[in-house]
Amino acid sequence: SAAQKGGYPHFMLKEIYDQPKALRDTINPRIRDGRVVLDDVKLDEGYLRGLRRIYMVACGSASYVGNHAKYILERTTRIQVEPVLASEFRYSEPVLGDDTLVIIISQSGETADTLAALREANARGARTLAIVNVVGSAISKAAHDVIYTCAGPEIAVATTKAYSTQLAVIYLLAMYIGEKLGTLAPECYAAMLEGLQRLPDQVAQILVPENLAKIEEAAEAFSRNHDVFFIGRNLDSATCLEGSLKLKEIAYVHSEAYPAGELKHGPISLIEEETLVVALATVEKLFDKTMANVREVKARGAHVLGVTTEDFAGEITKYVDRSLIVPKTHPLLQPSLTVIPLQAFAYYIALARGCDVDMPRNLAKSVTVE
Ligand code: G6P
Repeated sequence: SAAQKGGYPHFMLKEIYDQPKALRDTINPRIRDGRVVLDDVKLDEGYLRGLRRIYMVACGSASYVGNHAKYILERTTRIQVEPVLASEFRYSEPVLGDDTLVIIISQSGETADTLAALREANARGARTLAIVNVVGSAISKAAHDVIYTCAGPEIAVATTKAYSTQLAVIYLLAMYIGEKLGTLAPECYAAMLEGLQRLPDQVAQILVPENLAKIEEAAEAFSRNHDVFFIGRNLDSATCLEGSLKLKEIAYVHSEAYPAGELKHGPISLIEEETLVVALATVEKLFDKTMANVREVKARGAHVLGVTTEDFAGEITKYVDRSLIVPKTHPLLQPSLTVIPLQAFAYYIALARGCDVDMPRNLAKSVTVE
């Protein structure tokens, strides 16, 4: 009903706007006296010192949080992190044992493949930690440890606030483990903490009406494109996966995500006049490299929508047709801001194409068959 949607035309838009609160609810109770405190988690220093690898296991958007976690957790913990799709996990003979932590990510806590992967990990002697939104769900009950995302109920099929709070939990874990192992320098810990506390307000800043109007205008300009490529490097390449999935899911647009450096190894042959390329370029030291790729696709007639931080707001206009600017934060936290305009972009494209945003064809909110 309209009341449930809080005055918004769709649940998805409401849930996009719920994100600052969802982030505050997930982050704030876990920061005490300037430190990350995870009361529910029993990973002591001795156990962490014996860890050889961490698997991130999930489906769909939650699996892309795992792709981000590889960059973030490896940086702060120096433990090898492998993202694996839950539907592949059991059949890939994963290297499991007491030196392996399996982190399971699921909004619903009921996805069949994810639950099966969790049970397999338990049976084969790994420790399992679930990041879940629904309290009391099957996955929350089966895992050794649980960290809840506090996103509140998510109704739209395409995830927004659950995804954002899952990323926030990854930052908390990265700091928590990094501090225990001494692999995260105190300055970096302090900078991440400061960034984390500012994150909800920065998300709110992206969602101001002038900014949304800009995203809507870009979406309308590009709503007739039928092939889209998302390119980016490092953490941006992980965020590309989510931006691209959103377009497929709710706007039925064929879209692919590619690490920008891979363009030359195939997809560039598909770039034609007016193909849309969304170039994420928020990683400061890789800005020039990504712009070199932008030049290559522009030379073949592509339309380019750039996404970068306020530091490069002027610079990027030299390369792209249109740009969306996000605030800057600690580099490891940047994906939380970069994804917001991509959610809104997909939403407005879906609207422009007359799609059922909250209930896209053929998709279910929670996939309980394998
Ligand atoms: C479906 C939803 C996605 C979600 C995925 C995993 O495909 O449409 O938004 O990311 O399932 O669901 P889960 O509940 O396990 O996070």
